[in-house]
Amino acid sequence: MKLPLFEPYKIKMTEPVYTSSREEREKWIKDASFNVYNLTSEQVTIDLLTDTGCGAMSDRQWSALMKGDESFAGSSSFYNLKKVITELTGFEWVFPAHQGPAADNILFSVMIKEGDIVPGNSLFDTTRGLLEFRKAIPVDCTVKEANDLYSWFPFKGNIDHTRLEDILRNNPDEKISCIIITVTNNSAGGQPVSMENLRAVRGLADKYRVKFFLNSARFAENAWFIKTRESGYAEKSIREILLEMFSYADGMTMSAREDSIMNTGGFTAFRDEELYRKAVRFNTVYEGFATNGGIPGRDMNALAQGLYEGTDPEYLRSRMSQISFLGSKLKEYGIPVAEPFGGHAIYIDAERFLPMVPKEEFPAQVLVSEIYIEGGVRTSEVGALMADRNPLTRENRYPVNEFVRLAIPRRVYSDNHMGYVAAVVKNVFNRKGTINKGFRIKKEEPFLRYFTLELESV
Ligand SMILES: Cc1ncc(COP(=O)(O)O)c(C=O)c1O
Repeated sequence: MKLPLFEPYKIKMTEPVYTSSREEREKWIKDASFNVYNLTSEQVTIDLLTDTGCGAMSDRQWSALMKGDESFAGSSSFYNLKKVITELTGFEWVFPAHQGPAADNILFSVMIKEGDIVPGNSLFDTTRGLLEFRKAIPVDCTVKEANDLYSWFPFKGNIDHTRLEDILRNNPDEKISCIIITVTNNSAGGQPVSMENLRAVRGLADKYRVKFFLNSARFAENAWFIKTRESGYAEKSIREILLEMFSYADGMTMSAREDSIMNTGGFTAFRDEELYRKAVRFNTVYEGFATNGGIPGRDMNALAQGLYEGTDPEYLRSRMSQISFLGSKLKEYGIPVAEPFGGHAIYIDAERFLPMVPKEEFPAQVLVSEIYIEGGVRTSEVGALMADRNPLTRENRYPVNEFVRLAIPRRVYSDNHMGYVAAVVKNVFNRKGTINKGFRIKKEEPFLRYFTLELESV
């Protein structure tokens, strides 16, 4: 008999899973104005709100914490981290930050001015928010295949390079300073970007003399997809693939709270010393000294270890197998899920799930709320609420797809938990005919509204 594969780790410490009654959850979600970001963690049974910052660190990461060097300048933990980053990415010029958006903010402080156009694939919401806050205009050039949720196109995170070239050609140099590609493409369903696509972007960046940066929170999952889906890469190691991926970019920003399996941290890294020198000034203003930006030495040490573990092929194989386990169970129950499955999450097609709820009443948010009431599973809306309003007209933006995202934290839940989640969603699916109205917005902030907005039933 062929022996089954299993997780390449065992569990040393546990924390409780909270259970609750349906009546309690109905009250809690109403008190939270139907916004799951307003729930407390004790009100949640299985938390699939995000895979960000909620992974389980290993014993080696915890012991690395104990060896952290908290020197203000020249901390050995920084040099340890820098060595690992250079080994994995090839970038020599590195400084830490406390989170991904902080790293983005520093990059944008150097690269972006008011009125700039920033082409890329679909930017992550806070990256887009930071650009719009600076009155720059992000342009989403993701391939059209990404909109077809059911086609098995292997790299739906790719950029359409004809569209990208049109934008570069038709805008004067001073309006475009850089291209940003997010790997994997979270907003398009955690879908990967192929090596061929990254190579083509490099070619265009050179031709039009603009910089090219990778927003790299899920860089290792992207490398896994290249290895398993792109011709010519099956025999290459994850390390080799990563070095090639990063070789096409001028620099990167990183939220360390995803593939680096940390609860905090991030960094910015460049190939070029001059760019580093310009950016590091802003790191000093916003985050701290060049070698201690925003995170303690102990976290830099744990991050260095997390970078190794997050890029380990056995770990990546087991992570991907859990994502597929949940996706396949949902499919088996007839639930419309985007395919191929993304790297960190399963995305449910909320419009097909709840066809009686009009787009203007936020069907994905309705489904998020129903899944919570059914079994205490917290998921997130990736639809019109997250897409926010057009910064100029202030009208609601309705993206092509209304998703409910089930993001899976790293090394936290077992496949039994995933089986429970699938059963909860199936129960909602069985009663979907009774769900025919949605929400209206009661209160919203000027930008990044979805974190705090308040809703009421129509
Ligand atoms: C591409 C990308 N960048 C940044 C972040 C967030 O960074 P942080 O968790 O450090 O706030 C995320 C979170 O999902 C992300 O998908």
